[in-house]
Amino acid sequence: MTSVHSDALVFFGATGDLAYKKIFPSLQAMVKRGHLNVPVVGVAKAGWNLDQLRARAKDSLEKHGGLDLAAFEKLVSLLRYVDGDYQDPSTFTTLREELKDAKRPAHYLAIPPVLFETVVRHLAESNCGRGAKVIVEKPFGHDLASAQELNRVLLSVFDEADIFRIDHYLGKRAVNNVLAFRFANTFAEPFWNRSCIESVEVTMAEDFGVQGRGGFYDQTGTIRDVIQNHLFQVLSNLAMEPPVAMDSESIRDEKVKVLKAIPPIEERNLVRGQFRGYRDENGVAKASQTETFAAVKLEINSWRWKGVPFYIRAGKCLPTTCTEIVAKFRKPPTVIPDSQLVENHLRLRLSPEITIAMGMMNLSPTAEGLVLQTAEMVASHSPRADEMDAYERVLGAAMDGDSTLFAREDYVEEAWRIMEPVFKGNTPVYQYAPGTWGPEEVERVTPPAGWSNPGEKKSFAVASEAA
Ligand code: BG6
Repeated sequence: MTSVHSDALVFFGATGDLAYKKIFPSLQAMVKRGHLNVPVVGVAKAGWNLDQLRARAKDSLEKHGGLDLAAFEKLVSLLRYVDGDYQDPSTFTTLREELKDAKRPAHYLAIPPVLFETVVRHLAESNCGRGAKVIVEKPFGHDLASAQELNRVLLSVFDEADIFRIDHYLGKRAVNNVLAFRFANTFAEPFWNRSCIESVEVTMAEDFGVQGRGGFYDQTGTIRDVIQNHLFQVLSNLAMEPPVAMDSESIRDEKVKVLKAIPPIEERNLVRGQFRGYRDENGVAKASQTETFAAVKLEINSWRWKGVPFYIRAGKCLPTTCTEIVAKFRKPPTVIPDSQLVENHLRLRLSPEITIAMGMMNLSPTAEGLVLQTAEMVASHSPRADEMDAYERVLGAAMDGDSTLFAREDYVEEAWRIMEPVFKGNTPVYQYAPGTWGPEEVERVTPPAGWSNPGEKKSFAVASEAA
């Protein structure tokens, strides 16, 4: 087990899309904050040299987040490059030479999962794996069996404590803020259970399509792309019990328990959709049955949550881009007529801004008599421009050896187990018009009072706003 800070960062897939969009910007930000001061070795098979990789890094930064000359110069001075085939042992001999006297490198596999086994095997054989950590990109497998196989491969060379399975949602402050809200506020605990909560919904809406990633997306679909990983992490934060301590294992133990309490999804609790025009995207099969929208209803058979439905929906080409949780409260046993009880809820918006809002019933200020309205008390802030990006945060944490922000072996396997019936089954894919909230058939998987669509305020008044 390696808990000390890594003394080199190796990233495989250095000429790829992820490096271009996310890794170089994160590396520059880490340098700027003084968090990266070790050799950074890019590995790829592109027939490139170091100058070409530097040029690519510069281009990446100009397009994604902006070039900071001083930080970029420093990054360039740390950057090295190994060009070679991942199948060829000599690539890894060269890598070992490039690593010089580094004893605790972190190897980041930003490459397609089919290559993981080859790379991991060569890392072990070439001695690059000794004392090392391995950071693995999502998707972590494509079903339960492939995830188990991947875990087997990784665990044959690395200890679990040295394996960092990336889910960048765990690097988002807004996602961690769910835990802060729940466990740092005394008032939150008494209502956060089946006695008070009627249903919980999580919506991850994106108003754009597959953005040139048709080939990847058509093999993946919404469930594998964002529900089984990102949104299950959000769900775990919502539903977990308080951890007994702040260390990574105590926190991750509680998350796994949530998933263990969820039975495999039933087909009747799933609706899949595909936006019209998706099949014309580059890389997408003409008769594709891949979903670009999914809505699921899950049960959590725990002491806290049994009987409370959790609804999750996610999709591309929806009316807006926003990730939001809405928990609706049960109606009180009151003499006030039911028709007046509009809605009592807790709303947690994770993006684009971070919001905690309490929707409360109160007398309408504009009407006479017993006329009620829901007013929201809102605490909200937009991310600062200099705030750490999720990728920067998770890369730094992995290099520090802190596992809290990563998915553990048992967690990943439980998450696949829940969704397994979808992959074995044959649920239909319904078409929907871009810019709508998915196919009409989503009616079947809809909370009793309807989905709360982000941005549609119903008739809520805002009681007060704290910046
Ligand atoms: C990625 C998915 O993991 O997460 C994308 O592959 C999705 O399809 C993205 O758009 C969303 O991440 P974020 O950080 O923009 O909410």
